[in-house]
Amino acid sequence: MQGYSPAADKNKSPILSVLSNYLRDADRVFEIGSGSGQHAIYMAASLPTIGWQPSDCASVLPLLTKNIETYGTPNLSPPWEFNLESLSSLEKIEVDCVYAANVMHIVSKSLSENLIRWAGSALSQNGYMILYGPFTYDGQFTTQSNQDFDFWLKSRDPNSGVRSYEWVTELAAAAKLNLVNDHAMPANNQCLIYQRT
Ligand SMILES: C[S@@+](CC[C@H](N)C(=O)[O-])C[C@H]1O[C@@H](n2cnc3c(N)ncnc32)[C@H](O)[C@@H]1O
Repeated sequence: MQGYSPAADKNKSPILSVLSNYLRDADRVFEIGSGSGQHAIYMAASLPTIGWQPSDCASVLPLLTKNIETYGTPNLSPPWEFNLESLSSLEKIEVDCVYAANVMHIVSKSLSENLIRWAGSALSQNGYMILYGPFTYDGQFTTQSNQDFDFWLKSRDPNSGVRSYEWVTELAAAAKLNLVNDHAMPANNQCLIYQRT
């Protein structure tokens, strides 16, 4: 597989255990920032009644498309170009779940806001926004390793960084997405589950 990520391979099974609690037959999942497509390929194969739409920025699409063509199942659609910097062309789609793993801390705060607002507009009634990754609580990192990770992220890109759970949850509430669960995951990550009301 091109662009293979050992981390994505490790966390895919624990994430599936969480996702499967929130997805029903025929649900349409829209994934933001699919990267190599490892999660998309694994989740779609494990949940054959779900329709999975992967996406990423234009620069990632050739690799993502190749991996999906090679390893994908019929319920996994060809990836869409989707950039949080320019969302206008996608405003009208409706999905039952918006899933983004390890995206909130990579993109800037303003693009994180775009992600949440867009999820609020694209989700069907009672649909879920599921965010996987590290978060801070009450301004504190959950572990020293997450603080070190934040330092490393900001040294590469000062606009990136581990986001605050409270900040995300407040923005989500403004987009009519209410927190319904916060799952602690392996490797000091969280799965935050918000539901469209
Ligand atoms: C750390 S990778 C996560 C990949 C995969 N979801 C995973 O967990 O292994 C972050 C992803 O966010 C995507 N990304 C970065 N900027 C973006 C933007 N402006 N709009 C959409 N996706 C973006 C990157 O291309 C990359 O695939």
